[in-house]
Amino acid sequence: MRIRFTLNGRRVEVDAPPHITLLELLRNYLRTTGVKRGCETGECGACTILMDGKPVNSCLILAPMAEGAEIVTVEGLAEDGRLHPIQEAFIEENALQCGYCTPGFLITAKALLDRVPEPSVELIKDALTGNICRCGAYRMIISAVLRASEKMRTTSASQG
Ligand code: FES
Ligand code: FES
Repeated sequence: MRIRFTLNGRRVEVDAPPHITLLELLRNYLRTTGVKRGCETGECGACTILMDGKPVNSCLILAPMAEGAEIVTVEGLAEDGRLHPIQEAFIEENALQCGYCTPGFLITAKALLDRVPEPSVELIKDALTGNICRCGAYRMIISAVLRASEKMRTTSASQG
């Protein structure tokens, strides 16, 4: 069947079997491989994307459910060749080791900071509960989200 939606700001149309997951559609049909395949049972968060602004596990969503949606993956975070402040903050805080979980954490962090520009550590921990890092980089990840929050608030303040 034909599925149409917006992917990282671009309209896409793709023919795919209706029984595949959105994770498979993004990775195998649209080469959006920043979306990672982990458990495929909704437990690790590696496949997290934004669907109409909300973080969701793309492994739990059937591809046809994306019809008409706005999908954002890690590939859509950088703008005009510049990393997103959350990506910069992850680098500056060394918030990754193997990096496999990182796209999912970045997307979940973006959803949080879009909703709550200045979250507490408790709120960050709570928002990130669905994302698992097997390397155990949690302390640096939380520092990175705090740093990103500061960066994003400074940027929006300077833009008036
Ligand atoms: S691959 Fe989707 S939650 Fe683990
Ligand atoms: S950095 Fe390796 S799983 Fe998180």
